Amino acid sequence: MNSNLLALRPLMRASQRRFATKLTDHQTAMMARGLPKREKLIGVEDIIVVASGKGGVGKSTVAANFACSLAKLGKRVGLLDGDIFGPSIPLLMNVHSEPHVNSQNLMIPPQNYNVKCLSMGMLTPSDGAIIWRGPLVMSAVQRLLKGAEWGPLDVLVIDTPPGTGDVHLSLTQHSPITGVILVSTPHAAAVEVTLRGAKMFEKLNVPIFGLVENMRYSICDSCNHRIEFFKKSPSSQSLPDTIISLPLNAHIAECGEEGVPVVIKYPNTEYSTLFTQLAEHTLQAIGERKKFSQQDSK
Ligand SMILES: Nc1ncnc2c1ncn2[C@@H]1O[C@H](COP(=O)(O)OP(=O)(O)OP(=O)(O)O)[C@@H](O)[C@H]1O
Ligand SMILES: [Mg+2]
Repeated sequence: MNSNLLALRPLMRASQRRFATKLTDHQTAMMARGLPKREKLIGVEDIIVVASGKGGVGKSTVAANFACSLAKLGKRVGLLDGDIFGPSIPLLMNVHSEPHVNSQNLMIPPQNYNVKCLSMGMLTPSDGAIIWRGPLVMSAVQRLLKGAEWGPLDVLVIDTPPGTGDVHLSLTQHSPITGVILVSTPHAAAVEVTLRGAKMFEKLNVPIFGLVENMRYSICDSCNHRIEFFKKSPSSQSLPDTIISLPLNAHIAECGEEGVPVVIKYPNTEYSTLFTQLAEHTLQAIGERKKFSQQDSK
């Protein structure tokens, strides 16, 4: 094993996945300290974080398909798996090999579907569980971010674990995040924690680009009838604007198991078009932010 990976070794310990939406004392202390200097990643133009307060709502599915859609639009794209305890990018993107290391001892993210990918899942044995506490998780995320040769990239997409925990804090405190895409299903429990997560990003002055609503409806294959699973709930009105609403769909589920994102396997479908819209909307939002900051600096 190379020295860079060896450096990660002390961080790799056996255990279980843990997450919480409530801030721990350690996190509260970290936030109270204020923001350390946010350092730009060398060669990376913009960083987009995909997040949700809730688990299992489709964050990783959205992150993988969003990254591939950006790549299909001609952008140079990376996908960092910030889910240290439950990495799913290796499976979704079918990249399992341990990264090589360059002469400066930086990991070279393996590439698939024109997207450079890096995940703790490539560095730990698949049958090994992981136990890390706050500071170790933070340093693991920083190693994946700064210990890799990401550039040149137009957009680095970061998939995050559920909740607003150490990973989110570490990312927002140390890196200039261009914007956040929130993902939620429409059920009240998910909306509530997603709103709480949105507040954390607001507090840390990280712009929220909008919401991907997932699994509100399904379209019947035979008659094209749209089946709605949820009515609009009052709490959902407080969520950021919906960028796209994705259907519950058998192909999306199937592709998650196969390691081929749905926008690659079924490019000419309604849901693939929705992912393209998400990519285009985000690129536009990035462009608008750049215009504003240029005007501000004049
Ligand atoms: N629109 C959809 N239609 C069908 N299946 C979906 C859809 N979105 C996500 N899934 C499936 O739901 C499961 C959970 O999705 P995913 O892993 O992307 O969620 P997550 O929010 O990243 O979960 P975690 O919180 O564990 O990281 C996966 O099996 C995925 O294929
Ligand atoms: Mg996930």
